[in-house]
Amino acid sequence: MRSLLVVMVLFGGLYGDDFRMPKTQSSLYQKECGSCHMAFLPSMLNQDGWKKMMGTLENHFKTDASLDLQDTKKITEYLVQNSSNNLRNPQGVIAISQMPWFVKEHRKLSQKTLSHEKIKTISNCVACHTQALKGDYDEDSIKIPGRSWFND
Ligand code: HEC
Ligand code: HEC
Repeated sequence: MRSLLVVMVLFGGLYGDDFRMPKTQSSLYQKECGSCHMAFLPSMLNQDGWKKMMGTLENHFKTDASLDLQDTKKITEYLVQNSSNNLRNPQGVIAISQMPWFVKEHRKLSQKTLSHEKIKTISNCVACHTQALKGDYDEDSIKIPGRSWFND
């Protein structure tokens, strides 16, 4: 019992702190960065990752997501303020799904699973994390389309 408690505390703390919801929401961020995909949690990437992404919006994952200078600046500030700089990002990636923590968490998902028509891409967080829009990535709220169960 005691060791179970310790384990729960350890894991609870691991992401609980990192992937917090921002203290204040930004309607500008929701609007401009939540139209093609969900507005990702700023705390899932480190500061340098966000800065790099916001500096290359005209070529954003093969699409043009550019904004005027003022909005770019405001959103960058918001993202940087709410980023998690204790996250390892040795390759300097800008995709959350290429961050080491993410790759580790999702290593068991096969291409076949991801190819399901309701998923299509690992970036489609809400396909499996049913409460993602509320910032809840808890294991209990995961449902993988095409699979009635999943192995940990
Ligand atoms: C015109 C559509 C569009 C807009 C607007 C847009 N994005 Fe994206 N974004 C994409 C596409 C397409 C991808 C790649 C998704 C994939 O690989 O399946 C992407 C991927 C991402 C990813 C990586 C997701 C992952 O899997 O890790 C992040 C983070 C991101 N966008 C942030 C932003 C931010 C911040 C903004 C606002 C400044 C923004 N996006 C606006 C189209 C858009
Ligand atoms: C195909 C389904 C699927 C997609 C799409 C997906 N995930 Fe996951 N995610 C999982 C599974 C399965 C786990 C591992 C759960 C476990 O073993 O505890 C996981 C774990 C996580 C965790 C850790 C949860 C915890 O408490 O341990 C986070 C955070 C997370 N995912 C965020 C994301 C984000 C952000 C995206 C989109 C960029 C995403 N996931 C896309 C299935 C998915």
